[in-house]
Amino acid sequence: MDLRIQETLKLEGTITVPGDKSISHRAVMLGALAQGTTEVSGFLMGEDCLSTIACFRKLGISIELTEGKVRIHGKGLDGLEESGDVLDVGNSGTTIRLLTGILAGQSFTTFLTGDSSIRKRPMGRITQPLICMGAEIMGRKNATLAPLAIKGGKLKKLEYSTPVASAQVKSALLLAGLYADGWTEVTEPAKSRNHTELMLRAFGAQVEEGENTARVKGRPTLLGRQIKVPSDISSAAFFLAAGAIVPEGALTIRNVGLNPTRSGIIDILSQMGAKITVINKANLDGEITGDVRVESSSLKGISIGGAMIPRLIDEIPVIAVLAACASGVTEIRDAEELKVKESNRLTAIAKELTKMGARIEELPDGLKIFGGKALKGATCASYHDHRIAMALAVAGLKAHGETVINNADIVNVSFPKFAASLESIGALVRVD
Ligand code: S3P
Repeated sequence: MDLRIQETLKLEGTITVPGDKSISHRAVMLGALAQGTTEVSGFLMGEDCLSTIACFRKLGISIELTEGKVRIHGKGLDGLEESGDVLDVGNSGTTIRLLTGILAGQSFTTFLTGDSSIRKRPMGRITQPLICMGAEIMGRKNATLAPLAIKGGKLKKLEYSTPVASAQVKSALLLAGLYADGWTEVTEPAKSRNHTELMLRAFGAQVEEGENTARVKGRPTLLGRQIKVPSDISSAAFFLAAGAIVPEGALTIRNVGLNPTRSGIIDILSQMGAKITVINKANLDGEITGDVRVESSSLKGISIGGAMIPRLIDEIPVIAVLAACASGVTEIRDAEELKVKESNRLTAIAKELTKMGARIEELPDGLKIFGGKALKGATCASYHDHRIAMALAVAGLKAHGETVINNADIVNVSFPKFAASLESIGALVRVD
């Protein structure tokens, strides 16, 4: 499928974007390990989260799907069963890494694989500490690449400092820690998203959080519950950026998850000079939500780095688009992790925005964007990466002529109705 986008002069309206991907994955995982039924509303019916559901079904968990709702019939911490088949996580890094943590504590063996992108992504960051906890894990290149074979076992608690700020690493270890006696503790160089910690606590586990540390007490009894998933700020980000860069109009995005470990994009938009406001704040089991309104704005370049990076890790491609449309220079540093996402996002966004007339230099750990160059329509590649495809679609709204994004079906990973949502607010977009 190709996405064709024409320059758009005005965007207007109120929309709701799909449920948070990180929270949807965790709802299935903790629902499966809890006793009794967990009912999830606002679940993201995107390919990544459907991969998580498929994996847990193969592990013996009954999961019902109805329009917008998921019902998981949990069987308790020790209720998973050995799968007769290989589990396939598709394109989902969160599924493979968090699930490996859970499987490390099981009394059986599981084989895990994923698509060609997943099979290139680094797994040593989770397999190495999980092996220290007592799991047996085999994989290509000394258990650093999927496919993985995980022979679970009795785990020892762990105190671990991760070299990267990664919620997937932290969560894999905390989930394995559910199967160890005593407290398992993870310290990171900067705080990453804490959805696992908040949800574990809501399900009844003992969890403590310090500035850059999280710990969980092993062998809790988790109890099934109702979960309301907020809209994904990482999906909202494309609309916030679009609303800010087009010449006219205002957009409101409802019920957006605003967890402070995720809301860096709101701070960055304000620092760049966007007219952005948050109203109707609420708290769902520790997850803050609100409605976010953005108006067409004149943006200026800024510097981004340090502890801000984990707070906007998935928004960097669209921030590059904002920077290309801003006056002055934007420098993004400390973002080397972007090279090991669904694609090398630094290279992908730099190359494709350059095709559209932007001036961008790729740095060893980020990007330097010289803003203010007029964008022109171009034919762009998606790099098999949902966020690259959507960021380029946003750039297309501001580019003279037509922008074509090839192989854009990949947006279904996190935002199945992306094109229809854009169209509903006045964007000139067509699916081919
Ligand atoms: C995620 C953590 C982040 C993020 C990913 C989702 C999660 O990855 O980029 O989209 O749900 O825990 P890392 O942990 O690799 O930074």
